[in-house]
Amino acid sequence: MSDADAERVVALLQDRLHACNDLHLTLKHVHWNVVGPHFIAVHEMIDPQVEAVRGFADDLAERIATLGGSPVGTPGAIVKGRSWDEYSIGRATTQEHLGALDLVYQGVITTYREGIAELGELDPVTEDMFITQTEQLELFHWFVRAHLEDKGGRLSTAGAATEKDAAKAAR
Ligand SMILES: [Fe+2]
Repeated sequence: MSDADAERVVALLQDRLHACNDLHLTLKHVHWNVVGPHFIAVHEMIDPQVEAVRGFADDLAERIATLGGSPVGTPGAIVKGRSWDEYSIGRATTQEHLGALDLVYQGVITTYREGIAELGELDPVTEDMFITQTEQLELFHWFVRAHLEDKGGRLSTAGAATEKDAAKAAR
């Protein structure tokens, strides 16, 4: 791999490392802040996602080190390096959080898929890691969305542009 290619691959990995560190913290925040009649189901559904996403962060960071880079995992660096906003919902019902999480997963997965498209040429090994993680993230996204659909398959959050709008639509 050329130095220029390795640098680009490391940049893509670092961006997903920020995304996964942000996501597992956000998922714990949701785990702690959901209320309502479906509390225990959603509270317990979230923890395996936290564990999996923490594992993704570890794999991404160690791939950066393998390629000669220095993975950055400090909190300030996440905030500085991310291109998305802080999760915006505090104490709220399970439906509101799941509505907002629908948008969170959409954002995270979209960027993974853009990375996969670019990595096909650059580094198939990192591409494979992105594909494996995207498969799991899409599974979790389905778990979230299954709570937001009616029996006709209509998604309550369809067309929502912000977490707050999605939370309101899912209420
Ligand atoms: Fe807990």
